[in-house]
Amino acid sequence: MNDQFANQVVIVTGATSGIGKAAALAFAKQGAALVLTGRRAELGQQVQAECATVGARCVFVEADHTRLEDCERTINTTIEEFGRIDVLFNNAGIVSRGTALTTAEDLWQSTLDINVTSVWRMCRLAIPHMQRQGSGAIVNNASDWAIVGGQNALPYVMSKGAVAMMTKAMALDHAAAGIRVNAVCPGDTFVDRWLHKFEDSDADRRAAAISQASAHIPMKRFAEPQEIAAAVLFLASRESSYITGHLLLVDGGNTAQ
Ligand SMILES: NC(=O)c1ccc[n+]([C@@H]2O[C@H](COP(=O)([O-])OP(=O)(O)OC[C@H]3O[C@@H](n4cnc5c(N)ncnc54)[C@H](OP(=O)(O)O)[C@@H]3O)[C@@H](O)[C@H]2O)c1
Repeated sequence: MNDQFANQVVIVTGATSGIGKAAALAFAKQGAALVLTGRRAELGQQVQAECATVGARCVFVEADHTRLEDCERTINTTIEEFGRIDVLFNNAGIVSRGTALTTAEDLWQSTLDINVTSVWRMCRLAIPHMQRQGSGAIVNNASDWAIVGGQNALPYVMSKGAVAMMTKAMALDHAAAGIRVNAVCPGDTFVDRWLHKFEDSDADRRAAAISQASAHIPMKRFAEPQEIAAAVLFLASRESSYITGHLLLVDGGNTAQ
């Protein structure tokens, strides 16, 4: 275990799978004390146990971040257990598809609730603790689709664009208090919920399908969750001490085209 985050308290929302899980494990290996959240308690407890095996103090809070009371419970638990909040990684989010014509009212609202409102709420609840400490780092998980548009993904693109601009606005509001606010903007990242897209018992056919699906990316492959986690740790760490209001693309060059 390295000690880059020793004596630091890190909250990772949506840590039950994917990028959040990878970030939780990476922070754990760097000595952080962790509060992990998500709705799937069994998976969350497994991630908590994995973090504990590398020596991290770690708590899992079963939380649906569309509910204010669950956001409050996450912050209260963090303070009760660890007394401070050094890093907040707002990662929990959903992908939602549709155009202006096909997006239903409830999908629009549910996308806003988790991808946008929950990020603001978690910041609103965490920032007073960071202000008292005189320091803190917030990393929001946006998307490369916060920077460029994507087809048939209107509610998602809308929500991630909002995360990007919340990041900049909050960075300005809280810079003087020693709080940095940045966002990571991942391109297509190979997480578990993608596995069904490439189900094939034949390994060569599966590899060919993955290769075809990632052909539009200059680096010709999807990101691994650990590659996004590495960028999150950089933005959360002292290594980025003069960086705030930044949107860090981690997309294999996709949006450079
Ligand atoms: N994978 C990509 O290609 C990609 C690209 C750009 C950005 N992102 C962003 O990366 C973030 C993580 O997604 P992922 O790709 O790692 O997918 P994932 O494996 O599906 O992870 C999503 C996480 O968010 C949590 N979550 C969703 N709704 C929640 C809610 N209402 N309350 C609490 N937690 C909730 C999920 O936990 P529970 O289900 O247990 O609640 C899960 O841990 C998202 O914000 C996504 O937009 C992903």
